[in-house]
Amino acid sequence: MRKKIIAGNWKMNMLPNEAIQFIEELAPLVKDTENEVILCVPYIDLFYALLTAQNTNIKIGAQNMHFAENGAYTGEVSGKMLKSINVEYVIIGHSERRQYFNETDETVNKKVKVAFENKLKPIVCVGETLEQREAGKVEEIITNQTKLALEGLTNEQVENTIIAYEPIWAIGTGKTATKEDANYAVKAIRNKIAEIYGQTVADGVIIQYGGSVKASNAKELFEMSDIDGGLVGGASLKVEEFSKIVNFNK
Ligand code: PGA
Repeated sequence: MRKKIIAGNWKMNMLPNEAIQFIEELAPLVKDTENEVILCVPYIDLFYALLTAQNTNIKIGAQNMHFAENGAYTGEVSGKMLKSINVEYVIIGHSERRQYFNETDETVNKKVKVAFENKLKPIVCVGETLEQREAGKVEEIITNQTKLALEGLTNEQVENTIIAYEPIWAIGTGKTATKEDANYAVKAIRNKIAEIYGQTVADGVIIQYGGSVKASNAKELFEMSDIDGGLVGGASLKVEEFSKIVNFNK
């Protein structure tokens, strides 16, 4: 059976002292969960977060990285750099990066490969816009994004990729996909993976839902057949709320 993975995405929020306090407060609240708990924090918080999360079950991730190993890329951070301080996860291709920072399916694919080269576990985001949904293109868009993101990976790498299905219209808007719609989309992604990499690989891949996940809707979403947890933005900035999401099945 696939485990449930709940990842917080702090986006551009939380100063180092706030990160430390948050993790200190969260740790005892989630220590008994069987679910995996990840916090994806701003670069500036990574080191503090990693230190504070030592000896807890909270894992730490970054929110982006560059695909080059080093070089003249002012302001960027490489996978090798993340690995050097023991970061475990990295979000790749979040819709905000696709929308505001020129992230493309091609750069997403490059970054996913480099993540594996550096033994980082990628959390790859896919999702449709409202216009695409209204045009009946959800499946086409998200399965194509998935296919392109994973191109050239081995079966083992695909099985170790976390995919986050995040409909763009649901991110930060308070509008959540219905549990049926979310499960349908996640299933479509899984079927695409089965078509390319085989059913065994597809059955093992963790596919999360993201987009206005809250303590009040986490349980119904995460209990759906194909949804393996969530990528949580706004609600991951509040300790109580986030701990309830992590403990949705307790
Ligand atoms: P939200 O963000 O939970 O605030 O909608 C989710 C995300 O962008 O990962």
